[in-house]
Amino acid sequence: MLVLGIETTCDETAAAVIARAPDGDGRILSNIVRSQVEEHARFGGVVPEIAARAHVDLLDGIIDRAMKEADIGFAELSGVAAAAGPGLIGGVIVGLTTAKAIAMVHDTPLVAVNHLEAHALTPRLTDHLEFPYCLFLASGGHTQIVAVVGVGQYIRLGTTVDDAIGEAFDKVAKMLGLPYPGGPQVERAAADGDAARFAFPRPMQGRPDANFSLSGLKTAVRNEASRLVPLEQQDISDLCASFQAAVLDSTADRLSMGLKLFREQFGVPQALVAAGGVAANQAIRSALQHVADAAGTRLIMPPPALCTDNGAMIAWAGAERLALGLTDTMDAQPRARWLL
Ligand code: KG4
Ligand code: ZN
Repeated sequence: MLVLGIETTCDETAAAVIARAPDGDGRILSNIVRSQVEEHARFGGVVPEIAARAHVDLLDGIIDRAMKEADIGFAELSGVAAAAGPGLIGGVIVGLTTAKAIAMVHDTPLVAVNHLEAHALTPRLTDHLEFPYCLFLASGGHTQIVAVVGVGQYIRLGTTVDDAIGEAFDKVAKMLGLPYPGGPQVERAAADGDAARFAFPRPMQGRPDANFSLSGLKTAVRNEASRLVPLEQQDISDLCASFQAAVLDSTADRLSMGLKLFREQFGVPQALVAAGGVAANQAIRSALQHVADAAGTRLIMPPPALCTDNGAMIAWAGAERLALGLTDTMDAQPRARWLL
């Protein structure tokens, strides 16, 4: 089965072709990602209208490259999949409409994929993982703990009640004058900082649910920073280190709780899977390893290029759905919000 996948929900314009064997074996034939970070950097964040226009400009060329690199023609496709949400609606419309056009012209099935489902199913492409497993998804737009029980069977165990973790990193970076995207900048600054200098709150610590909250912590950083004007380089490093330490503690606590809830309902998970840009953070990665060890399961992190937004994950989710006969019609709607 050969599937083309299209991703346009945020600021990456991406297309990929994957092959799926009847036994569930997956192979990536091409995976082209064009990040728009430079287009948005001077605004300090993603500007939806700019993103949508850039997707219009870029997508056809990206699809062309993905098909050429895979060395196949549209007639050979078993289906075309597009992320139909959740995301910035202008971009979602561009990707889904393009997929519909390809499906119609080449008379091939359409799969309207939930972007979060695609993140959730990626470790079955990279690591042949069996169900059930526990997904920790932490990006600029999402923070979720999900029990992945089967294709189409996702039970959300926890989510953020306010900001996403990546969003909190980005906002803290912005208030400290660090460039966008802020996560890597904060991590770098934290390396030279004293994590014990500021006693920031550990949000939700000890709560019996597995939800996250970041906005109180973000405000605490803002308050502390406003007392230190003008900010010296060392202040920035110490604020970043103290903030990151609070995020680590909170994440470890919330994930332990999520894994406890998982075990109560589904037994020991096949793995704890981390995805999303935040999983690129080395300190968070080692915190996740400890959490997985303590829960008696293994930690899987798909390679960074497949953890962040890409077309291969959409193509793979499309293939998993196609294999079960789950296709969509031309009525499939783009969705800004779409819970798993
Ligand atoms: O998954 P992703 O590439 O895109 C989406 O948001 O969909 O995630 C990007 C987010 C940004 O908020 C970025 O600041 C954060 O992931 N991020 C990090 C690190 N690298 C990226 N956060 C903390 N530490 C990092 N090293
Ligand atoms: Zn994503």
